[in-house]
Amino acid sequence: GDVAVLVPAAGAGVRLGPGGPKALRLLGGEPLLVHAVRRLAAAPSVHTIVVAAPAAEVTAVRDLLAPVAPVTVVPGGAERQASVAAALAAVPAGPEIVLVHDAARALTPSDLVESVAAAVRAGRDAVIPVLPVVDTIKEVGVDEVVLGTVDRSALRAVQTPQGFRRAVLTAAHAAAGDPLTDDAGLVEKQGVPVSCVPGSEYALKITRPFDLALAEHLLVTGG
Ligand code: CTP
Ligand code: MG
Repeated sequence: GDVAVLVPAAGAGVRLGPGGPKALRLLGGEPLLVHAVRRLAAAPSVHTIVVAAPAAEVTAVRDLLAPVAPVTVVPGGAERQASVAAALAAVPAGPEIVLVHDAARALTPSDLVESVAAAVRAGRDAVIPVLPVVDTIKEVGVDEVVLGTVDRSALRAVQTPQGFRRAVLTAAHAAAGDPLTDDAGLVEKQGVPVSCVPGSEYALKITRPFDLALAEHLLVTGG
């Protein structure tokens, strides 16, 4: 494997409701983070995994993941971007392809990890998995009054893992300003082209209670 994967897992999971850090919430009896790391480790390209855990849970997360895969665990930061930066700083010399993958996308297939890594290996600087947007999208103003309808055909919903040539991601984080919700956004600001590959519905981000219920169903039926 020539790929390092950074796993931001330090979020609180506010939108999922009460119950502790989201990455440690259970899905089919195992923490979301365990599902995510197991699927990453099963991807043949993956050589190194660095997890950014909630600062209070670093030792617990190390113990939790030790039987799953060899991983490095570092304390995350207050924003996702800071957690990714902390994990990036812990990648040893060697891997020249770096993927960033949300622990919250616990059921992401190993095949998607491989396809993102393969696109970077084939020469892309930055690669994101995307799905078409299925809903009609409106822009709204004050008091939820519609300003207009957006051309859906030009929109994509973006998932992780996002893949980067290592130097590209390092430079983008070094230049980063206000926190963004994904790493490709930082790379775009550097003027680097970002390429899309087809995403997977199984890579849904478990955000709200409905998503966790859906993931439980997908796990039982083959996720
Ligand atoms: N994340 C992180 N460090 C943070 C915030 C988020 O590592 N300070 C991680 C989360 O653990 C998650 C991923 O970034 O794996 C995507 O974030 P999100 O789905 O928003 O998770 P949370 O921030 O935990 O959820 P919420 O926004 O509902 O609190
Ligand atoms: Mg969040």
